[in-house]
Amino acid sequence: MTTEPRLRMALIGCGFFAQNHLHAWASIPGVEIVAVCDRDAAKAEAARTTFGAARAYTDAAAMMAAEKLDFVDIATTMQTHRALVELAASHGVHVIVQKPLAPSIEDCRAIVEICERAGLRLMVHENFRFQSPILAARKALAEGRIGRAHFLQASFRSGYDVFSGQPYLATEKRFILIDLGIHILDVCRAIMGEVETLYCQTQHINPKIAGEDVATSLIRHQNGGVSIVDCSYASRRLPEPFPQTLLRIEGEHGTIELLEGYRLRVTSEGTVTEQSVEPETPAWTQKPWHVLQESVLNLERHWVESWRAGKSPETSGADNLRTYGLVMAAYASAESGSIIQPAA
Ligand SMILES: NC(=O)c1ccc[n+]([C@@H]2O[C@H](COP(=O)([O-])OP(=O)(O)OC[C@H]3O[C@@H](n4cnc5c(N)ncnc54)[C@H](O)[C@@H]3O)[C@@H](O)[C@H]2O)c1
Repeated sequence: MTTEPRLRMALIGCGFFAQNHLHAWASIPGVEIVAVCDRDAAKAEAARTTFGAARAYTDAAAMMAAEKLDFVDIATTMQTHRALVELAASHGVHVIVQKPLAPSIEDCRAIVEICERAGLRLMVHENFRFQSPILAARKALAEGRIGRAHFLQASFRSGYDVFSGQPYLATEKRFILIDLGIHILDVCRAIMGEVETLYCQTQHINPKIAGEDVATSLIRHQNGGVSIVDCSYASRRLPEPFPQTLLRIEGEHGTIELLEGYRLRVTSEGTVTEQSVEPETPAWTQKPWHVLQESVLNLERHWVESWRAGKSPETSGADNLRTYGLVMAAYASAESGSIIQPAA
């Protein structure tokens, strides 16, 4: 049982994905949802009553002035992140921010600098690397079951209609790389390490949306490894695999495969083992979203554990700048047709 004081938090942006944040915070002992905020009063009030927050606000500045908080969780879309982080920093409040951190690398860097200068903890809500099946694959690699990895394919291919839940995605000129590719590129970094060069081709298949919906990247890592990261929302196939990320990691002594249906197959020194790594499903999760919803819980637990241990979270602002840099490198490559060295 924890004897530490409860962490007092507020959530800003009670929209589509924030419901998962709130369910997860409500299930973590040692965290108190003190307040919620949304420009839309009805959404703020609905979140307050559902999750038992003391107060609901429509203005983040008013909330920050009135409440005594340890941290805020910012779950708005990226255009608002920088101003909200500036606001939190002016009150000395630690911050979690949803991905993508901001619309430009300059704004992302500014967010990281604001928090560093104010001595505040900053974690980006980059949850894919915290999915149980991906954690299981990373664990098998860390245990040395295939030796040093020299090749990764990380693949997310789906035809799922993400636009009905998140209509703003259909009008963005840049779509799959910055919305979904950012996660898969982050998983790639978490498994294979930092990137030396990147080449990307994008495609625009669905005429009803503004941005690219397929992106295929070929990556050379600083340690000599090579990755293919392929993402698609234009893949029509049954059974629909949304939202599974599939992995193939090849190493000196074997291969780790994360296969459809959440099966982890490890070929190690000529022996094959296969197990289910499908996540546990708390009552508030719904298939097929459960793997994402459970990763939100894992990420929030990681925030609390790293806070208590006085450690930097794995997906700190500084760490996430590198993932964001890969997204920008992928766009630059797709636009110019050349191989790009991502910004350090
Ligand atoms: N990590 C993941 O797996 C995942 C999944 C889905 C969405 N997301 C991210 O979550 C973020 C939110 O996406 P969404 O689909 O939930 O969006 P949404 O539009 O459904 O919700 C955003 C909410 O923020 C509110 N808002 C905007 N500006 C505000 C402000 N200044 N103060 C208070 N409230 C404000 C809006 O009224 C809205 O209710 C995006 O950055 C998106 O990329 C992440």
